[in-house]
Amino acid sequence: MITVGIEGLFAPTLEGGLERTRLDEIVPELIAAQRELMARRGRDIGFYDAPLRRDLVQAVLEEVRRLRAIADDLLVLGIGGSSLGGQALCSALGHTSERDVRVHFLDNIDPNSVASLLEAVDPARAAVAVVSKGGDTVETLAQLLIVRRWLRASLGQGEARSRQTFVTDPEKGLLREVARTEGIRAFDIPPEVGGRYSVLTPAGLLPAAFLGIDIIEVLAGAADMAERVTSTDVAKNPATLFAAGAVLAQRHLGRTSLVMMPYADALRVATSWFVHLWAESLGKRFDRFGKEVRAGQTPIAAQGAVDQHAQLQLFVDGPRDKTVCLVSVEKFAHELVIPDEMGEHDEVVYLHGRGLAELFDAERRGTRAALLDAGVPVLDIALPMVDEQSFGGFLLLLEAACACAGLLMGVNPFDQPGVEAGKRMTMGLLGRAGYGDDAASVAARERLADGVS
Ligand code: PA5
Repeated sequence: MITVGIEGLFAPTLEGGLERTRLDEIVPELIAAQRELMARRGRDIGFYDAPLRRDLVQAVLEEVRRLRAIADDLLVLGIGGSSLGGQALCSALGHTSERDVRVHFLDNIDPNSVASLLEAVDPARAAVAVVSKGGDTVETLAQLLIVRRWLRASLGQGEARSRQTFVTDPEKGLLREVARTEGIRAFDIPPEVGGRYSVLTPAGLLPAAFLGIDIIEVLAGAADMAERVTSTDVAKNPATLFAAGAVLAQRHLGRTSLVMMPYADALRVATSWFVHLWAESLGKRFDRFGKEVRAGQTPIAAQGAVDQHAQLQLFVDGPRDKTVCLVSVEKFAHELVIPDEMGEHDEVVYLHGRGLAELFDAERRGTRAALLDAGVPVLDIALPMVDEQSFGGFLLLLEAACACAGLLMGVNPFDQPGVEAGKRMTMGLLGRAGYGDDAASVAARERLADGVS
């Protein structure tokens, strides 16, 4: 079972840590947040129930069977929440999947990356999944236009269409419209599930299933966690516990950053997914009542044990603004024992016969103690292993924790008003009709810089 620990926030475990009464004080807020989330569950908050949408899963599996019959390479077009969830799933669980197929995420518009990928893949054995909740994201549409031309040039119009599949809003947006007019298969991201909470919808599931990952097991783990995170008993609810830990450390110890540091390579990309989730959900200028609050907690991606030789120096000795979440994995699929090589050197003898997983764990425990000694608050997440069920549960846990943290901070964790201005200005610069004022704003801002150098 996945567990969350916040012991590393309190004295005497944490040097200079909080009194336990701080947790008691926040309990009424946690209960209120949890009650609100549960009241809105299934109404305007859909991620809790995404794992229960068996209808979508069957449709995805059927589509994957069709695609696998015609393609060995799946190009996934999309950006932000429409890409990172699929990437996290494929990266964490891809090792258990089939090797004769490949999934490529085009999550940017760097011409070098896009051109190299299209050169490397044979269009005759390729399919394309286009993922966009809104269906009108400029980067995704630019990718789509390029990839459609690439497919059509080799395969002709009809076959090019049959290679495409869309994942988007059930009603709105350009992708939905094109799917209707051109007869392209399209899967729903439910309206009440936002981009960065969409990993357990077809947005993440379709690429994962193409790679051979058992998405039914992923959803089973997520559904179990969805059940656990319904509890208003803080001690029993890992999501409220995690949110409480992050928020208490910020409120009382000034910890405005949260480091996510898993001791498992399989969780590297999931860390980037978490960074996106935590940053975009919690970083808000205004609270839910319109008051300026400048809320948020800066998420930082780290990697055990790699960052013990890099960022840890900053975490221990640098600004006292960080909480570190250490993620441990109890069991690894491979047991690798360090052999008794170089026995003539005392420097390595203590390693002989130790498992690499044992060394990994000792490194995590050592780092944890060093952080606590240095007065750096620690949150702990323990996974039994990185398999389909645990990973599904891990994703849902962090989504639920993020939603709860948002309400504790008084903000809306499901919108992203701060990213709109830049999008509008980009479109203005490219001459899109109706965005002239935005282009003028860019020009005015750039003129200010002209006089400086
Ligand atoms: O989390 C979010 O809402 C964003 O990161 C979106 O996923 C991102 O902007 C892409 O949007 P869309 O899925 O509409 O293409």
